[in-house]
This record gives sequence, structure tokens and C-alpha cells, in this order.
Amino acid sequence: MLSTGKMFSNVQEAAEVLRGGGLVAFPTETVYGLGADAENPAAVARIFAVKGRPADHPLIVHVATPDQIVHWAREIPPMAWHLARRYWPGPLTLILRRASCVPDIVTGGQDTVGLRVPDHPLALALLKVFGGGIAAPSANRFGRVSPTTAAHVREELGDAMDLILDGGPCRVGIESTILDLSGHQPRLLRPGAITLAEIEAVLKQPIAQPGNEAPRVPGMLRSHYAPKTPVCLIPPAYLEAEVRWHLGQGQRVAVLSRIALLLPDACLWKGMPDYPAGWARELYARLRALDVQCFDYILIEAPPIGADWRAVRDRLERAASAHHVSSLRSSRGISAPFGEVGDHSVN
Ligand code: TXA
Ligand code: MG
Repeated sequence: MLSTGKMFSNVQEAAEVLRGGGLVAFPTETVYGLGADAENPAAVARIFAVKGRPADHPLIVHVATPDQIVHWAREIPPMAWHLARRYWPGPLTLILRRASCVPDIVTGGQDTVGLRVPDHPLALALLKVFGGGIAAPSANRFGRVSPTTAAHVREELGDAMDLILDGGPCRVGIESTILDLSGHQPRLLRPGAITLAEIEAVLKQPIAQPGNEAPRVPGMLRSHYAPKTPVCLIPPAYLEAEVRWHLGQGQRVAVLSRIALLLPDACLWKGMPDYPAGWARELYARLRALDVQCFDYILIEAPPIGADWRAVRDRLERAASAHHVSSLRSSRGISAPFGEVGDHSVN
């Protein structure tokens, strides 16, 4: 950890980089972001180039305090204020109708803008010193696993950005919950650490679920958050047999599971926590560490179906759907419930 003095000088320097149109990678409580001055279209364009992200996928604007919403959004419904006061700083992104100052490049040309106040001391210090909004996607290449440490950012993006603020490992570990408040009814666009049930309880009304419409949210593409190694989700009852089958084929496999398994030495087993927040915090770092070891498969115990596990399950299903492995499993007579893993890979 940096001493307070060093931290402050880094934040000052990072704010200068943003003012000069540069890119700063910074920690949030969810994942690391790749930030630029949200009101500088040329700087924001660099984010898209570095990530290899299609231009029609909008970026979240990070702000220092809830009252800054009025600068970025218009026709703000009372429930937005309610949620902002309840959850910010925190892992909730609100989609609102955008104000005229928001550049098209930030919103992908849409009439809405995503806003959030991140809950990390370095991010908040940077936002405060910089003074404006910071447009930032997760600091990974498009379609890949989000970074949860500064080292991940460096490994993935090299020196493509001007500065990285190192705030240690991210506390939450998966991306924010996204709630669309720009229409008639609130809609969940991406599940996250703040659950649907919590939001429904705060708003005292039901929230619409993600539909099958065109993906306005890249994280909603079926294949996303994906390591290069094929990932299979296996129900706990089949996990050991599945591992042995792969080993019998002469394959090298790694296993992530809550349950402890008596497995041959030929396979690498990593124990995972027994609660959703623990999985969320460790998942991406585990996937990255395993991905560089060139296994034939990463076999992952499918998490429970319950609402608490929804965000973790969502990321796992998207990681698994990047590779066409479901047919492999079904050919061996192992079928549902593996989750929604399918062959709709899109990137
Ligand atoms: O936790 C997070 O949300 C992290 C940290 C860095 O804040 N950010 C993040 O950014 O995950 P990104 O770009 O990887 O994912 C944000 C999602 C994108 O899928 C984007 O399409 C969606 O938010 N989004 C942003 N503005 C939107 C809008 N106006 N309408 C619909 N979706 C929007
Ligand atoms: Mg992302």
C-alpha cells in the first residue's frame, strides 16, 4: 500500500494526465477501470482503440458524488436519487437520459448515459482532484476477463495507458450491477454484487429482467469475460467423473470448485469459497492465473441456482459460452443443468 503522501502525489499526477487528454488505469471496488476525461472526445476515442472495443458500446461515466448526476443526466426520476443515496459510493451503475454535455462517443450515440460513484479511496480521490467525470470501461481488451489488480492491467494493456494507479486487489471482483432507469420501468441490464432483490426492496417495485434484445451492454454478449482456455461448468455431482474423463483423454485440466475432490495429481485443483462474494472476489484472478498455464480445459463446479449466486453464475456462463464445449458434454450424456451455456458465441 502506498503511504498517504505518495498516494496523494500519484493522484495529482493522474489528474494532470486526464486533463492533458491521457489515459489513467485506476482501481475501483469492482474491477480496474481505464479512464479518460469524459468530456474530451479525443481522449475517450483512445479508450476504444486501446481496448479494441466497438464504437457503439457505451462507457460508464464515474463521478465523485451523487449530486453530480445533474451535470450528466436530465429528467432524473426520484428513484435514481433514492438509489444513488442508498448505494453510492458503490457497485451500482444507473442508466439515465443524458444531458447535452455528454459526448456521443461516450454513449455510443444513445440518448442515455451510465453513471456511478465508485467505492474505492483512490478512485474517489482521483475524481475529487480531477473535478470532472471519468469515462471508464474495465481495463481489459474487449471480451476478456476484467482486471482485479494493477498487475493484471499491466499484463493485459502493457504501456498503452499513461499511468496506472495501484490500489491493491479489488474488494468486489466483478463488475457493477447495471440498472436502466431511462424507460417506463426500471430494468436490470447486468447482475452484480447489489442484487435484484435488494433493489426491488429499496424501490418497492418489481424490476424487469434482461431480455434478448440487441446487446447495448457488451458485458451482456453471451461470450464475454472469457479466458482463452475453454471453460466448462459442471454440476457438482458430475465433476469428479468429468475430470477423470478428460484425464483419460490425455488432457491437462484445472478444476475450480467449492467441494474438495480426491483427484489424481495430473490435475490442478483450486478450492473456491462457499459464498458468492468470495467467488466474485477470486474468480477473475483465478481464471487469469490458470489461463497462462495452457490447460486443455478449466472445469468449474457450476454454482447454485439461487438469486445470491446470479452475478457469479452470469459471468461463469459467459466465460463458458466463448467455446463450443456444450456439444462435447452432451455427447457424453451429461446435460442440463449446466446453466445457459450455448453456442451463441459472438466475439
Ligand atoms: O464495475 C464496473 O462497472 C466497471 C468499473 C470500472 O466501473 N466498469 C465496467 O465498464 O464494467 P464496462 O465498459 O466494461 O462495462 C460497462 C457496461 C458496458 O457493458 C456498457 O455497454 C454499459 O455499461 N453501459 C454504459 N452506458 C450505457 C448506456 N447508456 N446504456 C446501456 N448500457 C450502458
Ligand atoms: Mg468490461
